[in-house]
Amino acid sequence: EKKILTLLSDRYKEKFTKFPREKGWMSEDVYMYQGFWYITDHAFSIETVIAVQESFQAQSTDIYIVTQPKCGTTWIKALVFAIVNRTKYKNINPLNHPLKLYNPHKCVPFLETEIISNVPTYVHGNSPRLFSSHIPYRTLPKSILESGCRLVYMCRNPKDALVSWFYFANKLTDKSRTQMTIGEMLNVFVKGFLPYGPYWDHVKEYHKASSEDPTKILFLTYEDMKVDTASKVKRLAEFLGFPFTEKEVANGVVDEIVTLCSFEILKEVNKNGDYRKGMANNTFFREGKVGGWRNYLTNEMTQIMDDITMEKFHGLDISF
Ligand code: A3P
Repeated sequence: EKKILTLLSDRYKEKFTKFPREKGWMSEDVYMYQGFWYITDHAFSIETVIAVQESFQAQSTDIYIVTQPKCGTTWIKALVFAIVNRTKYKNINPLNHPLKLYNPHKCVPFLETEIISNVPTYVHGNSPRLFSSHIPYRTLPKSILESGCRLVYMCRNPKDALVSWFYFANKLTDKSRTQMTIGEMLNVFVKGFLPYGPYWDHVKEYHKASSEDPTKILFLTYEDMKVDTASKVKRLAEFLGFPFTEKEVANGVVDEIVTLCSFEILKEVNKNGDYRKGMANNTFFREGKVGGWRNYLTNEMTQIMDDITMEKFHGLDISF
């Protein structure tokens, strides 16, 4: 991976070092590409995003899961994987279900990691292929938009996303990065100087795309998904083209999937081991709650976030 990253960096460095640059997340340089900010020399970096954009080929049967980081990517990946593959794993010992053995990020790879990885993933040989990404709508590879495949987008209350970012960043075991205070994280989040920022523009573009073509792009919120998860899972399955039969519903298959993908179960499965170098599996499971921001943000911080959200989402039916 390191080798491929170096190769990509060599290929694109001359190009991106001329892009706007700021000191951002964890005091790293962030570069603006097509209106969004990226770090470099990492799986989720400007090099990999440009490489994905230039070379990734979608197939019409593919399913994509797109999020801003910390908006519930791990959860929605698990749910989509469990829904789409439920027949395949029906007759195996439930303890051997891939979600009981591996991090959901292994079951549904990121386009950004897929492009630099030589390791086979669950995607190979499977149809539909499941991929995820944090890439903004405007930067998606053309073939994804042209192939007519389905895409699920999930966002989350930006105040909870901010707090989640804060804890995630400070838990990364890569010590070359500087630890941040919550105030510093707020500052960076508001300016959008963190990978795939600004949050609001990302959400708005997918929201618009979904309202223009709801059969191809499903717009979900973490908060909505938390309320009556079973009925949302049924809707998700219909959208994906894998609706539950009446018999499955009667047999409790929907509830089984909700339980399998619950925060408690996945947290337990992922309590040990590493997802990637410097990133433990348990980094993706902290509180898993709606509204936890109340315990971390001051009134002033809350006001700053609410003002921007009000301004940016004005007139849109996005509620948390
Ligand atoms: P918190 O930090 O607020 O707890 P991402 O997967 O996009 O990195 O987002 C991580 C957030 O999703 C974390 O939020 C994490 O706890 C939460 N999360 C992970 N798995 C979850 C699950 N199965 N159900 C609900 N929330 C989950």
